This record gives sequence, C-alpha cells and structure tokens, in this order.
Amino acid sequence: MAKAGRLAAGVRRPGRAVIVTDSNVDLLYSDKLAASLREAGFDAVKFVFPAGEKSKNASTLLSLLNFMAESRLTRIDTVFALGGGVVGDLAGLAASLYMRGVGLVQLPTTLLAAVDSSVGGKTAVDLPAGKNLMGAFYQPDLVICDTDTLGTLPEAEFSNGCAEVIKYGFIRDAAILNMLGNRPVDEIISRCVAIKRDIVTADEHDRGERQLLNFGHTFGHAIETCSGYTIPHGSAVAAGMVIMTTAAIKKGLCDAGSLGLLKSALRACGLSVEVHYTYAELFDTILSDKKRSSDRIKLVIPRRVGLCELIEVSLNEAREFLRLGLGGT
Ligand code: NAD
Ligand code: GLY
Repeated sequence: MAKAGRLAAGVRRPGRAVIVTDSNVDLLYSDKLAASLREAGFDAVKFVFPAGEKSKNASTLLSLLNFMAESRLTRIDTVFALGGGVVGDLAGLAASLYMRGVGLVQLPTTLLAAVDSSVGGKTAVDLPAGKNLMGAFYQPDLVICDTDTLGTLPEAEFSNGCAEVIKYGFIRDAAILNMLGNRPVDEIISRCVAIKRDIVTADEHDRGERQLLNFGHTFGHAIETCSGYTIPHGSAVAAGMVIMTTAAIKKGLCDAGSLGLLKSALRACGLSVEVHYTYAELFDTILSDKKRSSDRIKLVIPRRVGLCELIEVSLNEAREFLRLGLGGT
C-alpha cells in the first residue's frame, strides 16, 4: 500500500483522488492509501459506504457521483477503488459515468477481487430484478494488488475467493485445483489473472469466449438474488458450479469424475455445496439474467476439469438443466 501513490503517479497525473471504500476496509487501509497518495502529490478525499452486496445499488452509485461532483472532480482526476468486488464494481461504474469517464485504479483487498473482479473492466451495480443489471465495460488504468491485505480477510471471505479460483481450474487449467493450499497465494493470483488477461484480450466485450468466465454464475446469480444477497457471490458461484456439473453429467455432456473433484476442491476450501432453493424460485430469477437473449440463454457446460464449453439453449432446456442439477432425475 505504501507504494500505491508512486505507482499511480506513473499512469495518472497527480490531481484529485477519490478513495472509494467500504466500512470494513476503510478502518484497515484507507489511511495508508491516503498517506501514500498524498506523498505522491495527489489530493485525496474519501467516500465510504456500508460493507456488503446490499450497498451495490443505484442509490449508493448516485451518492458517490454526487460526492465526486461536490469534490469538484475533473476529467484528469482519478477514482481509487480500495476493497473487494463490491467496491470495485461500484467505483468502476462511477468512474465510467462521471463526466463520461475519469481515471480508475483498482486496489483489490479480497482474493475474489484479486483473481477476478479487479481485472477485465466489468463494472456494475445490482437492480431489484437482478445482479449487475446496470453496468459498463470500463478498464482500469492500473490494478495494484497488495497481497498483504489478504492477511486481514476473514476466512469465509477467503473461501469465497477460492470459488473463483476453482472456476479458473475448471474452465482452463486443471493444475490450479492442486495449487490451492499448496502454493503461495501470489502464485495462484498470477496464474488466475493470466488466464483472465488472455480471455479478456480475446473478447473484451463478452460476446463469446469471455462468457466461459461465467461458469457457475447463471445459477449462482439466481441463488444470490433469491437470498436477498445474504449468500455471498463466491459461495453462490460454488453452488452454481455444482448444479451445472451435476446436470451436465446427467445429460452425458461431462466426464463423470468431475463432480467429485469439484466437490472435494470446494469442501477443502470450506465452501458448502448445498442449495436451499427450489428450481421454480431460481428459474424465475434467471429470466432477468444478462446472458439471456429473448427465449434463448447461453450456459457454460463443463466437459471435464480444465475444459468448459458454451452452449446456447432454450429457456425450457435451461430449466431442465436446473432441475437435473438440483437433484431431479
Ligand atoms: P465484498 O467486496 O463484499 O468483500 C467481502 C467482505 O470482505 C466485505 O465485508 C468487505 O468489507 C471485506 N473485506 C474486503 N477486504 C478485506 C480485507 N482485506 N480485510 C478484511 N475484510 C475485508 O465481496 P467480494 O467477494 O470481494 O466481491 C463480490 C462482488 O464482486 C460481487 O458483487 C460480484 O458480483 C462481484 N464480481 C465482479 C466481477 C467483475 O468481473 N467485475 C467478477 C467477480 C465478482
Ligand atoms: N467475472 C466475469 C468476467 O469478468 O467476465
């Protein structure tokens, strides 16, 4: 964190800096970031919102935009998103909207944000109808990942990040599953970020290959929404991957051993693989999913660990995947 100001000054002219963070991360790291920014010549102000997915909404976004205007931010100024994926998604969207775009530096402080949300330029807030429905693609000027911050992350939040790490293992690189618990976290983060970099470079705007990164997310987002955001994103994605893998095996699309490998990797990271919603409840939410086009939706199907494919199905077929994945026969 001490180097953040100097690193940021390498890509952004030191001007006004708005540190956006949540109520937990604020107490831990915003003073350190502010000191480092001031040392590098930035004039830092801070916007803090209550921690949690429930804050990732249009109302917090509007408060942040008003704060930026009241702080007299201009186009040359920079937003510093200090926190997990909630902070990064919200601050990133505000940076894309304010004066049609100001500078953006992402400083992920959760494992999930380090391996996934801080990289690739997806920003969003949730609407009552569903996850991430108001958003934009907006690339950060810089991502500063200080892995020392993970030292204060609660264990359950580390587990949530592991769900996204396991996702990378399933979509591209089976060896990642063996790295969890055996290799330093920096090494795991760089491996995941390298996969995401390659995928986003090939398909920045999510028209094809990038959708593979949504493995477990269609049903995962439905679980998050149905729970009123009391189930965290990582845990919901873990359950979503289990549902999809179970269904793919029942449909003869996936190697039968993959489910056991998935469940043991999730359990080893302290993630539950149970789902407490009926398929009717979850399916209703899927109708608001961004991956739906009219009466068709794209699903990410595992073929085996390390290889996933995109298939487009009708909503009725998606419903059948969900039914089978939740234990139907
Ligand atoms: P989060 O941002 O809510 O952080 C989880 C919790 O950890 C919060 O309570 C936070 O205050 C706390 N925290 C953060 N850093 C800490 C630290 N170093 N020490 C102690 N506590 C800390 O959740 P998350 O899991 O980081 O992110 C989930 C969000 O990311 C979801 O909204 C999801 O939709 C989004 N996401 C976005 C993308 C993308 O590509 N943009 C990808 C994946 C997920
Ligand atoms: N987390 C999904 C993506 O960035 O595309």
